[in-house]
Amino acid sequence: MGLLDGKKVLIFGIANDRSIAYGIARQMKEQGAELGISYAGGSSIERRVKPIAEELGASFLEECDLSDDSAIEALALKAEKKYGSLDCIVHSVAFAPHECLAGRYADTARADFLTAMNISVYTLVAVANKFERLLSPEGSVITMTYYGAEKVVPNYNVMGVAKAALEATVRYLAVDMGKKSVRVNAISAGPIKTVSAAGVSGFRSMLPVYSERAPLGRNVDINDCGGCAAFLASDLSKNITGEVIHVDAGYNIMGF
Ligand SMILES: NC(=O)c1ccc[n+]([C@@H]2O[C@H](COP(=O)([O-])OP(=O)(O)OC[C@H]3O[C@@H](n4cnc5c(N)ncnc54)[C@H](O)[C@@H]3O)[C@@H](O)[C@H]2O)c1
Repeated sequence: MGLLDGKKVLIFGIANDRSIAYGIARQMKEQGAELGISYAGGSSIERRVKPIAEELGASFLEECDLSDDSAIEALALKAEKKYGSLDCIVHSVAFAPHECLAGRYADTARADFLTAMNISVYTLVAVANKFERLLSPEGSVITMTYYGAEKVVPNYNVMGVAKAALEATVRYLAVDMGKKSVRVNAISAGPIKTVSAAGVSGFRSMLPVYSERAPLGRNVDINDCGGCAAFLASDLSKNITGEVIHVDAGYNIMGF
């Protein structure tokens, strides 16, 4: 028996087999979930995501640019037609222009700030809003965040500010959606080599520092995020909401 037997999960944010959302999808599938996948980025991403959807036996595969409200609404209608209701939504989506992930935060251009906030924060609000009617009672919404929301991480800059807003969004949404017994939580992952992470200047040098300083003395991977997400999608976490759970081998508890 799997933790997620009979649960229908829609996952946003698989771009390739290194994406955190792929690790989440794999772990959820292993726990018995039925998966739907939504991706963005046109045919080049579709070429990578299609075989992943096949591997995971996904019953739904649709493109959706989450910066477009009408596209989200159209996706919600399709998902409603297909599933009737959903038990979990995974939002593993973020973007900021490469040039603002290096140097001084003070130099962030207004347009880049707005792009980062739009894609990395507002997309969660929009998805919660458009999919609320589909989420079953005891449903779960999960997003991905990073420690740069809490402390200054060199070069993370506007993404750190966006993640702080995302974590606040989790708490506000948890109150709104709690009225229907839907939970909203974030997983704060340690650094993992993905396409998005590679956009942060100096990212590679973070990995050995994390494993050296984390209490568990190692780095985390996409399957670790998947394990936590499977728990958050399951009934085992039915009274956990509005939380940010660190999956970082303990790095964040260290003061020195
Ligand atoms: N990799 C890390 O070290 C790390 C650590 C903590 C948190 N995170 C967070 O995890 C999440 C997933 O990132 P990842 O590291 O797996 O990288 P990734 O590049 O594999 O995933 C990012 C995803 O966002 C999607 N996306 C971007 N713009 C979109 C839009 N307009 N509409 C829909 N989807 C869009 C991309 O298509 C991609 O699938 C992000 O929120 C990221 O900030 C990553």
